[in-house]
Amino acid sequence: MDSKNRRDFLKKGAFFGTALLATSALGAIPAGCSGAADKENNNSGNGKGSGKPKTRTLGSGAHSMEVSALGLGCMGMSYHRSFIPDKQAMITLIRRAADLGVNLFDTAEAYGPFTNQELVGEAIEPIRKDILIATKFGFKEGKPEIGLDSRPESIRKAVEHALKSLRTDYIDLLYQHRIDPNVPIEDVAGTVKDLIAEGKVKHFGMSERDFSQTENGIELIRKAHAVQPVTALQSEYSTMTRQPEKEVLNLCEELGIGFVPYSPLSRGLISGYINERTKYNPTNDNRISLPRYTPEIIIANWPIIDILKEFGDHRGLTVAQVALAWLLAQKPFIVPVPGTTKLAHLQENMWSADYEFTADELKVLTDDLSAVEIRGERYTTGYPTTK
Ligand SMILES: NC(=O)c1ccc[n+]([C@@H]2O[C@H](COP(=O)([O-])OP(=O)(O)OC[C@H]3O[C@@H](n4cnc5c(N)ncnc54)[C@H](OP(=O)(O)O)[C@@H]3O)[C@@H](O)[C@H]2O)c1
Repeated sequence: MDSKNRRDFLKKGAFFGTALLATSALGAIPAGCSGAADKENNNSGNGKGSGKPKTRTLGSGAHSMEVSALGLGCMGMSYHRSFIPDKQAMITLIRRAADLGVNLFDTAEAYGPFTNQELVGEAIEPIRKDILIATKFGFKEGKPEIGLDSRPESIRKAVEHALKSLRTDYIDLLYQHRIDPNVPIEDVAGTVKDLIAEGKVKHFGMSERDFSQTENGIELIRKAHAVQPVTALQSEYSTMTRQPEKEVLNLCEELGIGFVPYSPLSRGLISGYINERTKYNPTNDNRISLPRYTPEIIIANWPIIDILKEFGDHRGLTVAQVALAWLLAQKPFIVPVPGTTKLAHLQENMWSADYEFTADELKVLTDDLSAVEIRGERYTTGYPTTK
């Protein structure tokens, strides 16, 4: 398609898209509406215009979880995103997210360490029964900088600590944060299986930077799944980081495992909210050490934002909404966990679940995104890290 026809094509959806968003916006601010009530209202029809995330299923059969189409990444509320907002404001944000229908909240022992779990625990205490908590273990003393540790006794210790911090007696989804080459994966999965039998954990997940690049990553998922069925894999996936498309999404489809994209907005980059002039706090921001966040590389990768913007401008969608809607459109078992510290961004991100692409516009958008050669490695070398 030449560029004029492509532009005309992109504009065709304008009226439909704008109308859809307007309906969503009207329906999306139900002050005081409870998470439980949302669940009842949530599944009628296709969810268009409901203003609340549709639900999706992670995992299969007895090991499945019914979750909102988008979860909320809580890491940046206290860790790695430069500023640490007022704690009470973040507690209010988490509860507001639940009011608006988000039921999956993502944290980890390593975020802090421990402080992020504590924040989430305080926030969810009064709404515990209406929401699902995902957390992660896998580092010595919860600190990525001192090494991996998925020994069974360490997993148990991390879980006991997490239960206290999270003010709960069960964890809905427990991920191994990074594969530990020193501990057989069967022992990891077996320990989680025992914790599930004891009622302390409900579901098992695995998280990696990129399972295809991790030594024997795909094989280890299969081995773990044979011991304790995996409900979700979590890895970076966005319009700028598309590695899971190589192998991992097919594996999820084959084994009936859900997929949770982390950093779905590429740590704020894809929204256009950070740019080459952004200054990071060196004591609390991993982006300062990641090659994709240098000023030159940010500018070199800006065509991704231009494409998302052009698509969204004609449909009443923001750049972040197009990026998240595109992820949701890839597979029905994908549940991104964008992080935010702002109610306005939270609502904006949730509304992305209302947008439905036609097959043609999804193809054109995907082709355009694929044509951009992404510059800059995701990570500097070296493990372990939660980055
Ligand atoms: N398993 C793992 O190894 C791993 C690694 C990294 C992250 N995670 C999980 O994934 C979650 C999200 O990842 P992330 O925080 O790295 O990246 P992200 O979700 O891609 O981006 C978060 C950043 O985007 C900004 N943002 C969010 N919505 C926006 C919007 N609508 N418009 C403009 N800016 C927006 C946020 O700023 P504001 O606060 O200003 O909105 C924040 O700085 C984390 O909270 C964590 O739970 C897991």
